Amino acid sequence: MSAANLVMQSYGRCCASLDFFDSFYRHFLASSPLIREKFVDTDMSAQKQLLRQGILNLVMHARGMPDTKLRALGESHSRQHLDIRPELYDLWLDALLAAISEHDKECDAEVRQAWREVLNKGIAVIKAGY
Ligand code: HEM
Repeated sequence: MSAANLVMQSYGRCCASLDFFDSFYRHFLASSPLIREKFVDTDMSAQKQLLRQGILNLVMHARGMPDTKLRALGESHSRQHLDIRPELYDLWLDALLAAISEHDKECDAEVRQAWREVLNKGIAVIKAGY
């Protein structure tokens, strides 16, 4: 199965797990004071819904969707707006993989590698907007 399809199925299993996004933000916020600082005024329940869609955009991009949505994220996360420095995406990816490993019962080394491949491609588009 292609990496994009492995990821799509894994993401389905993650989203069916009720506290998948809570786990992600628990790991992500714990990873650095820089991250916690960025979310001090954020409504986290709204943010979880936004992220659900954001990850879907990354996955759809790997399946051939145009990069319009990802370029818009690149703009909102750029130095002129949210100012998310490119190295912070490594923490984001690690936190997401930790949450996936906890919530996708079928997650193994192949699925994790597929996620890395798919996400790195989309993250490169977002970072390019910094
Ligand atoms: C907002 C997705 C990485 C911090 C958002 C939004 C989405 C999103 C969909 C809401 C819409 C928008 O503002 O454009 C993503 C995705 C990421 C990512 C898919 C990874 C590929 C990061 C990283 C940080 C971050 C690494 C670092 C702290 C924020 C903040 C907001 C935000 C502070 C605004 C929260 C608020 O409204 O208070 N992100 N993001 N994001 N993101 Fe990200």
